[in-house]
Amino acid sequence: MHQGNQTTISKFILLGLSDQAEQQKLLFVLFLGMYLVTVVGNGLIILAISLDTHLHTPMYLFLANLSFADISSISTSVPKMLMNIQTNSQSITYESCITQMYFSIVFVVIDNFLLGVMAYDRFVAICHPLNYMTIMKPRLCILLTVIPWVLSNIVALTHTLLLIQLLFCDKNTLQHFFCDLAPLLKLSCSDTMINELMLFILGLSVITFPFALILFSYICIVRAVLRISSKEGKWKAFSTCGSHLTVVLLFYGTIVGVYFIPSSTHPDNTDKIGAVLFTVVTPMMNPFIYSLKNKDMKGALRKLINRKVFYPLIP
Ligand SMILES: *[C@@H]1O[C@H](CO)[C@@H](O)[C@H](O)[C@H]1NC(C)=O
Repeated sequence: MHQGNQTTISKFILLGLSDQAEQQKLLFVLFLGMYLVTVVGNGLIILAISLDTHLHTPMYLFLANLSFADISSISTSVPKMLMNIQTNSQSITYESCITQMYFSIVFVVIDNFLLGVMAYDRFVAICHPLNYMTIMKPRLCILLTVIPWVLSNIVALTHTLLLIQLLFCDKNTLQHFFCDLAPLLKLSCSDTMINELMLFILGLSVITFPFALILFSYICIVRAVLRISSKEGKWKAFSTCGSHLTVVLLFYGTIVGVYFIPSSTHPDNTDKIGAVLFTVVTPMMNPFIYSLKNKDMKGALRKLINRKVFYPLIP
């Protein structure tokens, strides 16, 4: 289906975060560090939760799921970026690019939905404490972790199927550090109206539904907390959802900051900063936010580390 002198291209060029040669080394060290911190931090959370049977409650199982999504999310973009810096190559094949785009969408969307699910869990725990066990049955919990996976794959599949219809002609240079959907659409020489419409519709619904769930949950939570008369009780109720609220504010603060506040400076840079925040910084911060503020999590991590360091032979 080539028209005129247009040829479909077989690879893309990822310019990365900076075109200055002297900055490459710094970026490499910085992103390698963030990658390792994310993988180790979230990995420890998953280990601590799965080894400590006290933490086999819905809240922690959802947190383990979030950690898994975070490790996966950062692994879609950063290792390839590090490899490209190290090998001084900027190219990525068409197939890898599409694959990278697919999985980066899947995990960001899962992250988003899991934050909604976790808010719902806190809502039930604080607003319906007596019915918590009967509402959050194992079957519902599994359902609540499966739904984000299914929905995110549907979203990613829709974007991918629409993207592979597009023709890419002479432009193949992405001003980005991984194959993100929006910058890819800008390169196409086909009409991208439908793609952009779907990006808008799906993007909006993927953000709105979890956000509405979070808002609804927190309104009920705040009302319930205000009704508690003892200061201690108030603090206890708040501290179990404070870390979740921090993550939510970080996540949606980023969305608002990057996409809704018009920036007079380079729009390209805003794209890149947003992508770094979503795919690198948020996944890196989650374990710290959850484990530093949470006594049970700290205890479980301490147990895990003591066990590994001092009793490596005892399973
Ligand atoms: C995710 O959640 C489900 C259901 O709550 C749980 O069975 C599963 O172990 C969790 N996954 C991880 C990686 O902890």
